Amino acid sequence: MAVTQKDVDLFIDAVKQKSTYDFSNYSVKSFTRRIDKILTDNNFDVFALIKKINKNDKYLEEIVKEITVNTTELFRDPQMWQVFTTIIENYYKSNKKIKIWHAGCSTGQEVYSLLILMHHLNLFDKVEVYASDINEDVLNVARSGKYKYRDISEYIENYNTALKDLPAKMKKLEFSDYIDVNKRRDSIKIKSFLTEKPTFLKHDLVNHKDLFETDFDIIMCRNVLIYFNHDLQNKIFEFFHDNLKTDGSLVIGRHEGILGAIANKFKKKDTIYVKKQSGLY
Ligand SMILES: C[S@@+](CC[C@H](N)C(=O)[O-])C[C@H]1O[C@@H](n2cnc3c(N)ncnc32)[C@H](O)[C@@H]1O
Repeated sequence: MAVTQKDVDLFIDAVKQKSTYDFSNYSVKSFTRRIDKILTDNNFDVFALIKKINKNDKYLEEIVKEITVNTTELFRDPQMWQVFTTIIENYYKSNKKIKIWHAGCSTGQEVYSLLILMHHLNLFDKVEVYASDINEDVLNVARSGKYKYRDISEYIENYNTALKDLPAKMKKLEFSDYIDVNKRRDSIKIKSFLTEKPTFLKHDLVNHKDLFETDFDIIMCRNVLIYFNHDLQNKIFEFFHDNLKTDGSLVIGRHEGILGAIANKFKKKDTIYVKKQSGLY
């Protein structure tokens, strides 16, 4: 790899001075790989990159987008959705309101997956949904609910697997009840009754001081913290814990885990961590 640790440190310092972004606790390996790719693709050295971000705020935003990984799917990790269905039925069904936060929602497929599941469970009218990301471009795609047609077969397969064990009394609605398909235009579009529901907002998990809401029933933060180092991960797990109600769920990614003392504050099922009552640790 051509890029050195010193290059990465110089870049992180320059971004910190220029903006509110702080990448100093992102995991070194994947962050270095991303910077290396940016430098190679543009045929720059780190000094040219820093010069350009200092001159142009928009360019800095583009670089932030390239640094962060935005991959996502509808009903990504279908097994988790099967387990989560039972948890939602057990814990939140009788709530008057179910307050949800998707942290690091990327282009929104995860947000619409949970809304579709809530609709199947007849809980749609009770949900209040916030979805945030560091990156305004992905949030704009999320707001539109418009995705590429080419991903449809994977999405339908995930949909069918994720929802296959719904309680017998639930009428199983079809994919096409939620999503309009336009093959000619290479696009699929989430129906507007779903896109109208969430509040999408820009929010940086590293500088999380001003949180828009508290006391969530569900926080989904999947495949985001994997890009952070352990210290930052633990800080954010504590922060999520503080902002969940008792019996609230924190859902993380299949390749992520909560380690150390904070893990004892949750009951774990699959990748879902349910907050225990305080004092019962
Ligand atoms: C791989 S996507 C995960 C999307 C979705 N949660 C899923 O699992 O399919 C990771 C997202 O985290 C966002 N992200 C990275 N750093 C962040 C930060 N400091 N604050 C908020 N979001 C961040 C990225 O912009 C990206 O959209």
